[in-house]
Amino acid sequence: RGERLHRGKVKGVYAVAGYPGLRLIDFTDEATAFDGTKRAVIAGKGEANARISAAFFQALERAGVPTHFVRLESPAVMLVRAVEIIPLEVVVRNRVAGSLAKRLGLAEGTPLRRPVWELFYKSDPLHDPWVNAHHAEALGWASAEELAEMERLAFAANLAMRDLALRAGLELIDFKLEMGRPLGPQGARTGEGLLVADEISPDTCRFWDVETGERKDKDRFRRDLGQVEETYAEVLRRIEEAFRWL
Ligand code: C5P
Repeated sequence: RGERLHRGKVKGVYAVAGYPGLRLIDFTDEATAFDGTKRAVIAGKGEANARISAAFFQALERAGVPTHFVRLESPAVMLVRAVEIIPLEVVVRNRVAGSLAKRLGLAEGTPLRRPVWELFYKSDPLHDPWVNAHHAEALGWASAEELAEMERLAFAANLAMRDLALRAGLELIDFKLEMGRPLGPQGARTGEGLLVADEISPDTCRFWDVETGERKDKDRFRRDLGQVEETYAEVLRRIEEAFRWL
C-alpha cells in the first residue's frame, strides 16, 4: 500500500507502490448522509460493501460492461485499475424514489414506463447539483462520445444489476454509478473505453425486498428505520448466494 491519494467520506484510495496503473480502495465502517451532516459507524459495513461491490462488478464484466475491478485484496480492500474519474454521478432509476419523488412531487414506488438516467455534477460545496448532458459537454466534463458511452454502459449495467438483485429477492429501484478513463502502467490515459468505477452497494443502490417491500439499503440509515447493520449483512449474504449461481 502506497500513499493515500484520496480520502472520500467513507472510503480511502491508495496508490500501489511500483504500479501506477493500480489502486487500492479501503472500505470503512463509517456512514454519512446529507452531505456528511449525519454520521455513524455501522459494524461490518466496509466488508459488506466491498464484497457486494465485487459481486456486482463481476456480474457487469460478464454482461460485457467493463469495470475497474481486479480482485478483493482482503475482506474490505479492493484492488482496482487506476482511472481518471469523470466528475459526474450517473443515476439510473427503475421506479420513482428519493430525490426524484421529492423534486416532482410523486409517490415513492411510482412505476416508470422506461428506466431513466440523470446526471449530477460531483461537487460537495454545491451539493451535487442536477445537470444534463449538454452542461457536461459544454463545460468540458466529458466529450459527446463519452456521454453516449456513459448512457450505453449505464443502461447495460442496469440490466445486469437488476438480474443479480432479483436472483437475491431484491428489486433494484435506482442506483448511482461513477465512470472513469483508464490509466495504464505509466499512469497515463490508455485511450481505452470508459470503466465503471467506485462501488456498487446498498450505499449506492436502492433495493426493496421483492416479498415484503422492505427497504434493504442505506435508506434504513438515512431515515432511521433501524436494523441497519443486520440489513448490510443480509444483503451481503443474499447477493453472494445469488452470485454463486449466476
Ligand atoms: O437521492 P437520489 O434519489 O437522487 O439517489 C438516487 C440513487 O443514487 C440512490 O440509490 C442513492 O443511494 C444513490 N446516490 C449515491 N450517491 C449520491 C447520491 C445518490 O450513491 N451522492
